[in-house]
Amino acid sequence: MLYLTRRYRFSAAHRLYNDALTAEENARVYGKCANPYGHGHNYVLEIAVAGPLDPATGMVYDLAALDQLVQREVLERLDESYLNQQEDVFHHLVPTSENLCLAIFNLLSAEWPANGRFPQAKLHRVRVEETNSNFFEYEEPAHENSRKGK
Ligand code: NI
Repeated sequence: MLYLTRRYRFSAAHRLYNDALTAEENARVYGKCANPYGHGHNYVLEIAVAGPLDPATGMVYDLAALDQLVQREVLERLDESYLNQQEDVFHHLVPTSENLCLAIFNLLSAEWPANGRFPQAKLHRVRVEETNSNFFEYEEPAHENSRKGK
């Protein structure tokens, strides 16, 4: 198995605030991140693809196809946006970077594979770097990957 990782960047704002909690509870859970009007991040997004080496091309996956998919499904939606208003993406979940990892994984896996030449290549991991000090990763368990078969 070989792994390819491609890095992207986007900027977005969010506010960590759960409407089901009181203002005091939100302040306790999310601290300054719950302040009104939100705040921004320059996110670094890494998408990892896993697959066998295609002997004909010497490649695991098609970078151009990956770029197009990420551009269309992720960057065009999220870049320079307010994540709390992205209801199609977050379905009213608090837009933490944990939920961002999952949401991006789901957006991409719904359209996977973007290039039929590499049918065994799997979307392996989504990594979201929120600041220099913290990053989050989502990896679908292997058995779910194979069950979906796509
Ligand atoms: Ni934040």
